[in-house]
Amino acid sequence: MAVIYGETVKTDEYLIIYLDSLRINSVLNFDLYIKKAGEYILYRSARLPFEEKNRQNLLDNNIDRLYIPLDNRRNYQEYIEGNIREIIEDPQIKESTKAGIVYDSAKLLVKDVLNNPTLGENIKRSQAMVEATVTLILRGQSAFHNLLRVMSFDYYTYTHSVNVCTFSLALARYIGIENVRELNDLGTGALLHDVGKTKISETILNKRGPLTKSEMQLVKKHPRWGCDIIKETDIINPESYFPVIEHHERENGSGYPNGIGADKTHAYSKIVAIADVFDAMTTKRVYRDAMAAFPALKTMFDDKGAFDKHLLEHFTRLMGPSKLSDL
Ligand SMILES: [Fe+2]
Ligand SMILES: [Fe+2]
Repeated sequence: MAVIYGETVKTDEYLIIYLDSLRINSVLNFDLYIKKAGEYILYRSARLPFEEKNRQNLLDNNIDRLYIPLDNRRNYQEYIEGNIREIIEDPQIKESTKAGIVYDSAKLLVKDVLNNPTLGENIKRSQAMVEATVTLILRGQSAFHNLLRVMSFDYYTYTHSVNVCTFSLALARYIGIENVRELNDLGTGALLHDVGKTKISETILNKRGPLTKSEMQLVKKHPRWGCDIIKETDIINPESYFPVIEHHERENGSGYPNGIGADKTHAYSKIVAIADVFDAMTTKRVYRDAMAAFPALKTMFDDKGAFDKHLLEHFTRLMGPSKLSDL
């Protein structure tokens, strides 16, 4: 049974986690397994506290990843979300590990959001996860590179949402936006930008051939549906609505749903539009392979008048040749 690290559902039975995501002396509420010779062995039961000696023992045996049964996933997710601030502030944990924990956790969270997008609690959880990502991104470009390394480039709406949020925040930070509130609003809108797709069937979203006219009309409704969904919960700041409704708008007015051009499109939406298209092109779909980063950026530049030129130049510089080789 293959366990592929970096994908949210690792197997039909186990989820792989970082040892560093576990807080010392905390009750975990989920069973911990280790893997030996291909077998999963119960290491610590949910009711026992996790202590320093356990951690040391695992490290002494070169174990820095553990496994939890998938039916314990919800408990693990709650645990991580409850401890995410402490994890991010912990000087003992490597920044690259923090990026992995935040990314994996954000993916699981967005899966929940997409399953139940009008649940206010899920939207609040999204905000908390965006705040954690903002804290990381504000630490500088190395945090973005760490996130880039753990990103999943197989396309699912939930991985795409987290990637778009990460790229958007990194670009915003790169062009000098450092105000936490602004970054949180942008990040929340970016994370939830495709929430309206929950109203569209997977068959249409993953269709191999070209969409029919009526299917296309349906797909074009997702920005508006997304905005309706997040308005319904009435939790997030209205600034976050912009990227949700406008991420398919284009500078030259050729986008949808309203065909508004550069002047009327919010700055957050222009950022998310670039992150969205870049991620869509550089991830693998069921019907086509992923494009490499440079050709993807070139295609975006060639699509004259679609994207904000300056933002796209900044984004290209942010990705830079040295980072592009990681993709
Ligand atoms: Fe979209
Ligand atoms: Fe998207």
